[in-house]
Amino acid sequence: MTTALITGSTAGIGAAFARRLATDGHNLVLVARDTKRLREQATELHDRHGIEAEVVTADLSTDQGIETVGDRLRDRRNPVDLLINNAGFGNKGRFLDVSMADELTMLKVHCEAVLRLTSAAVEGMRERGRGGVVNVASMAAFVPRGTYGASKAWVVQFTQGVARDLGDSGVRLMALCPGFVRTEFHERAGMGTDNIPGWMWLDADKLVAAALADLARGKTVSIPDARYKTLAGVVKVVPRGLLGGITSKTGRKYGPR
Ligand SMILES: NC(=O)c1ccc[n+]([C@@H]2O[C@H](COP(=O)([O-])OP(=O)(O)OC[C@H]3O[C@@H](n4cnc5c(N)ncnc54)[C@H](OP(=O)(O)O)[C@@H]3O)[C@@H](O)[C@H]2O)c1
Repeated sequence: MTTALITGSTAGIGAAFARRLATDGHNLVLVARDTKRLREQATELHDRHGIEAEVVTADLSTDQGIETVGDRLRDRRNPVDLLINNAGFGNKGRFLDVSMADELTMLKVHCEAVLRLTSAAVEGMRERGRGGVVNVASMAAFVPRGTYGASKAWVVQFTQGVARDLGDSGVRLMALCPGFVRTEFHERAGMGTDNIPGWMWLDADKLVAAALADLARGKTVSIPDARYKTLAGVVKVVPRGLLGGITSKTGRKYGPR
């Protein structure tokens, strides 16, 4: 049995990772801010799949929360074999509409926590000669629009760079780039989703299955689903200035209201 630590495990994509990894017989360390919800999730996964599920309450927008999870990742007696840096959120509004405090909180959760937790995890993994890290980014990483996309672009670049640096260590790193997924994300951010066409929505369980298959194949960037692979191909050939205009219009239609 191996152990996986998932940040943001209680909802959406993180919960789908927890379900899938528990089904496959992995022990879990579940991380989020809501202790009651974490405990209920741990009990359910233990009862249903017979795995051990530990709970760590931590707010990854704080130094203390990051340190708490980092300490668990550095615990050599109970090694973590797979880290899923998944916790994240969106801010409603365009640049200057969102407070600087909220922008910085996003960078703390999306970038600083991912940097520090990846570092805490891979040190031991490198010593053991095996392990994996999945950093959940977004398709938004590929389009020049918004601070959310900028933070996720950092996640993709960071992950690819570290994967290269640790290339011969036995540790795998992969950035996961989902499109729209039905989770609590948009509701939590107060974003309307009525205008997003049905074909653009992905199922979290299918997304996770494709992501884990990509990790097993040794990919460093995973874009699950043919629809979004095609969009990623288009994005590569459209000039960035033009792309910014298109995605800005799309953003007005699909983005925060
Ligand atoms: N849904 C999409 O369309 C979509 C698309 C592309 C990428 N993503 C990315 O996928 C990841 C997961 O999003 P999701 O859609 O599954 O969102 P979600 O359903 O809203 O779940 C977010 C999870 O993160 C936890 N969380 C939020 N802030 C946290 C903090 N400061 N510290 C610790 N845990 C925190 C939440 O639990 P607590 O509230 O209890 O802390 C919850 O478990 C995010 O990184 C997001 O940017 C989502």
